[in-house]
Amino acid sequence: MRDDVLPAAVRERVLALAAENQLPAYLYDLPALREQAGQIRDALADAGVQFLYAAKANPDPVLLRVLAPLTDGIEVASGGELEHVMDTVPGARVAFGGPGKTDRELITAISRGVWRLHVESLRELNRVIALAGARPVEVLLRANLPFGVTGAALSMSGPFGMDEETLAVAARTARDAAAAGSGVRVRGLHVHLASGLDAEQKLTLDKRVLAWALWWLRDKVPGLTAPEINLGGGMSVDYADPDDRFDWLRYAKGLGEVAPEGVVLRVEPGRAVSVHSGYYVSDVLDLKYTRGQAYAITRGGTHHLRTPATKGHSQPVLALPGPQRSGEPLNDDNLTVVGQLCTPKDQLAAGVGVRDLRVGDLLVFRMAGAYAWNISHHDFLMHPHPAFAYVGG
Ligand SMILES: Cc1ncc(COP(=O)(O)O)c(C=O)c1O
Repeated sequence: MRDDVLPAAVRERVLALAAENQLPAYLYDLPALREQAGQIRDALADAGVQFLYAAKANPDPVLLRVLAPLTDGIEVASGGELEHVMDTVPGARVAFGGPGKTDRELITAISRGVWRLHVESLRELNRVIALAGARPVEVLLRANLPFGVTGAALSMSGPFGMDEETLAVAARTARDAAAAGSGVRVRGLHVHLASGLDAEQKLTLDKRVLAWALWWLRDKVPGLTAPEINLGGGMSVDYADPDDRFDWLRYAKGLGEVAPEGVVLRVEPGRAVSVHSGYYVSDVLDLKYTRGQAYAITRGGTHHLRTPATKGHSQPVLALPGPQRSGEPLNDDNLTVVGQLCTPKDQLAAGVGVRDLRVGDLLVFRMAGAYAWNISHHDFLMHPHPAFAYVGG
């Protein structure tokens, strides 16, 4: 639990939140977010690859306003996200994907001028054609490819996208519809096969996808100018080692080496963009041993930060002396940190080493900037929601 890794401004704000009784709180480091997104953008832009941010990782409006000018657009996965992003960052390009889109979502997307629509099935394509009429809709067909992915934290096999035969029918359907006056146009392919890949793994997969996609587009959508291939997200982060970051330079350079002239390549990462700039901050309510195990019970829990329970990891955490610390110090190399919920699944961290930890001390959970608050079961047990605070403007 070293605390010297916290940026000074974050540390200062954590102490201020504690002094103002504002815990638990989410705290976002906006300069860090800006720096991370800027590095990703620069690496990708040098290789001619477009960069969308996947809003599902964290749709916080303040973060979206930081990210919109640093990206080529925002990827959304529901009508709710679509309207939220369009209202929060007007003018940003929005790409809309996800299975099971309703008519209402499609009508909203079309009437609000969605930039790209990622179509997941032949039935969905036919519905888009029927709902769009002559209105222009630029479509990427989502491909479900049988490529084994080694090292993935999550393989996106299942109901996502279409296999090769259905894709061929979809390309023909769109061509026939366009000839009959439809505004729907296939601009390319969308592929997101796995999450949690490091730069080498992602590059290996993407080169395979690219080779197949280039052949497929030439064969099935002949004459398409500036074909687009969206290679999805899924770039890894390491909760066991927060400083181990995805190697964007290596990845972008590798893609750049195989990207042919005239083809638009695009990626849509979420987690690797925002995870490091978010902290979940709480304080220790109780310390105890039971059956030989040391526990810290913290204000809050997995109803605010569900990520460790969902992914089965220990959330990286560090401790700071709190302004109102009290009681006996705890020293232990195997502390389990839990929340206030009456379930053993309410565990935030395990195997944590602590020295001189006391009730009232502050716990700062790192890597809480993605798939954290927005995937959590906020209202279970009706505990108060956390505060939201931001460092930097
Ligand atoms: C289609 C699609 N694109 C992008 C992402 C973002 O993935 P990540 O946050 O792992 O980069 C996801 C995540 O599930 C996804 O399903």
